[in-house]
Amino acid sequence: MKIWVPMDSAAKAVGADEVARSIAETAASRGIDVQIIRNGSRGMIWLEPLVEVETDQGRVGFGPVSVEDVPALLAGTLSGLGPVEQIPFFARQTRLTFARCGVIDPLDLDDYQAHGGLAGLRRAIAMPREDIVTEVTDSGLRGRGGAGFPTGIKWKTVMQAEADQKYIVCNADEGDSGTFADRMIMEGDPFTLIEGMAIAGIGVGATKGYVYLRSEYPDAIRVMNAAVAITRDRGVLGPRVLGSDHAFDMEIRMGAGAYVCGEETSLLNSLEGKRGVVRAKPPLPALEGFLGKPTVVNNVISLATVPVIFEKGAAHYADFGVNRSRGTATLQIAGNVKQGGLFECAFGITLGEVVNDIAGGTASGRPVKAVQVGGPLGAYMPVQKFDTPMGYEEFDQKGGLIGHAGMVVFDDSADMLQMARFAMEFCAVESCGKCTPCRIGAVRGVETIDRIAAGDAAATELLTDLCETMKDGSLCALGGFTPFPVMSALQGFPDDFATQKEAAE
Ligand code: NAI
Ligand code: SF4
Repeated sequence: MKIWVPMDSAAKAVGADEVARSIAETAASRGIDVQIIRNGSRGMIWLEPLVEVETDQGRVGFGPVSVEDVPALLAGTLSGLGPVEQIPFFARQTRLTFARCGVIDPLDLDDYQAHGGLAGLRRAIAMPREDIVTEVTDSGLRGRGGAGFPTGIKWKTVMQAEADQKYIVCNADEGDSGTFADRMIMEGDPFTLIEGMAIAGIGVGATKGYVYLRSEYPDAIRVMNAAVAITRDRGVLGPRVLGSDHAFDMEIRMGAGAYVCGEETSLLNSLEGKRGVVRAKPPLPALEGFLGKPTVVNNVISLATVPVIFEKGAAHYADFGVNRSRGTATLQIAGNVKQGGLFECAFGITLGEVVNDIAGGTASGRPVKAVQVGGPLGAYMPVQKFDTPMGYEEFDQKGGLIGHAGMVVFDDSADMLQMARFAMEFCAVESCGKCTPCRIGAVRGVETIDRIAAGDAAATELLTDLCETMKDGSLCALGGFTPFPVMSALQGFPDDFATQKEAAE
């Protein structure tokens, strides 16, 4: 009897380890032969720990499973959810990047290959360098870290740069509130990130890679380190990648917990052992990055999507999506929702469909008030904008941004003035201090919002002016994007700002 119990940290947080231990002990005491496989998460967080049992109908799910449920689970009397892949939240997805996550044993390289793993790398090895980069360009893949910059153009810049050494740096400093896609893939399918980095290295001529992984993700660090060791032992990484003439190796480096180190230039400083402070651009990291050498800096999901592009072809990937947003979005649904988790689907689905149909509305049962899309620097989207399709330009036109595709839902009890204040406070705490609009502006922003709350009518204009200055004058996205949540709260929910309320009265 095969049983899968996730080792994903979201599942562990609600008792997956205890359930796995109980299954092993109960089965042993009853003489039942079970093989327990610790898989990644399927992304249906409200069902965790989601235990799967092999049956004639495929893998049948049970969840959330507690230690008390284990005897009934093994006796076959526990009521289940049916085949996991038929659970509506899962069945509606198009899983390309996350195709193997939750399916395989994350550290079993044979299982990985049995599910299409390394097919992309093998194909890339046989291609000329220019064709590898063209394949990525043709797929339409854009940076999934937030900015949506075309990955193929970034790779081309690095490929064409003349240097004795080039690097691939994976940005795994997933600091946005409500995001967990990077963590899930690193814990659930680490080989896909390693394969994507190896393809990137071969494509641009880089022989060394680094994953800059935040210290708050101890499980991901452990799994990634183990996966790197396995791939090195099996000749996927090393002086002859899969027996080819290409060399590529990599290391996992731990960040120390600064949000701003998710910004690529401060990440590079931190990786070099310096203080995590933002560098001015130009020069672009693509030309002068890690240790001054041409460097591809890509987010985890961008790199983890590369293998499927090479396995199935650029045209297959580009076939999904809407307008200039090609392929799939890995939506992370969080906050006040009935069904939160990882939902991968083609770009183009509307915000309203995600919140109402897929997430099932609020967990509290109260009306939705706003959804913050794109992390703490993303705009609050009101219900009136629920017809916005998930797409980079489509969101931009509505004053929002997709960012890393994290979505945090709030019900009508949320006070949007307090949310705006939180955005300014967050910026003040996390600012690297290099430029004035952010370092000082964020502190003044908190004070100005407090003045609005106290009924100072003139302070609203001042806040608007301050946001303009931060937007135009900040060196990086932290100071430059903080005005998005602040202004969207102010403009979209004027009733929550005391002065407007008074003026209306
Ligand atoms: P950006 O627009 O300055 O740059 C985007 C990327 O393209 C960078 O890697 C840049 O080096 C590269 N690039 C630009 N022109 C290039 C060229 N000609 N050749 C090669 N490469 C080129 O945006 P930035 O500041 O890197 O990122 C801002 C985004 O980060 C925001 O949209 C925000 O959503 C997101 N973000 C994500 C977080 C997360 O936790 N994932 C946290 C905070 C912000
Ligand atoms: Fe540093 Fe803020 Fe300026 Fe970015 S905007 S460089 S975080 S001070």
